Amino acid sequence: MSQPVLELKNAAIYQRESLILSEVDVTVEKGEFVYLIGKTGTGKSSFMKTLYGDLPLTEGEGQIVDYNLRTLKEKDIPYLRRKLGVVFQDFKLLTDRNVKENLLFVLKATGWKDKKAIDHKIDEVLDKVGMKTKGFKFPYQLSGGEQQRVAIARALLNDPELILADEPTGNLDPQTSVEVMEVLQEISRNGNTILMATHDYALLLKYPSKTLKCDGQRVFEVVQKTV
Ligand SMILES: Nc1ncnc2c1ncn2[C@@H]1O[C@H](COP(=O)(O)OP(=O)(O)OP(=O)(O)O)[C@@H](O)[C@H]1O
Ligand SMILES: [Mg+2]
Repeated sequence: MSQPVLELKNAAIYQRESLILSEVDVTVEKGEFVYLIGKTGTGKSSFMKTLYGDLPLTEGEGQIVDYNLRTLKEKDIPYLRRKLGVVFQDFKLLTDRNVKENLLFVLKATGWKDKKAIDHKIDEVLDKVGMKTKGFKFPYQLSGGEQQRVAIARALLNDPELILADEPTGNLDPQTSVEVMEVLQEISRNGNTILMATHDYALLLKYPSKTLKCDGQRVFEVVQKTV
């Protein structure tokens, strides 16, 4: 039996008292690349936030990388996030330090101590996103696409069981979006599981994959038409 990394059953997603999504049944298996699409305001980010513990799950069942979202405690959240790699539209790099120091910051915060292992890990993740030679650059010295690749490298630091990317190409031009998507595809081919919210239909057509859609307060799987 395969073990899903994410499983929601009859879940409801709320922003405070407003119901955003209901009767959500979603399963993501290890190794899958899954899109989450839907018009603006349909609940993609709310869905993602519930998965990384930023919004509580108060109805239905939710299991993510061995955590039960219904019983998740405040103190569990940092540990849950270590098993997830979260990537945002606006990169969220620390602007006052260079690329390597951004990655070092996360490793230190998550308990890494061995200097050799740290250096090796930083090189490894930068290599995976094609940024090995840019470790000494500050975020402001990088293009948007490069900053996003660093953010993806950061998400990979603790070998996440699931990568959650909320509109990772939302701030990028079409060409750069494709470059960042190539990185995500490569990471996916290497066995990582990825759930990516997007409303970039060009990417969906270019890189078809399992697709979930938020619409009318529901999430359902859509079958992609091939062109
Ligand atoms: N912090 C918040 N407090 C209250 N309501 C919110 C909050 N954030 C979002 N909402 C509401 O929840 C609904 C879903 O928003 P959400 O951000 O999840 O949509 P989205 O699909 O990610 O949209 P977009 O494509 O613009 O990113 C919207 O009606 C929005 O107004
Ligand atoms: Mg959003």
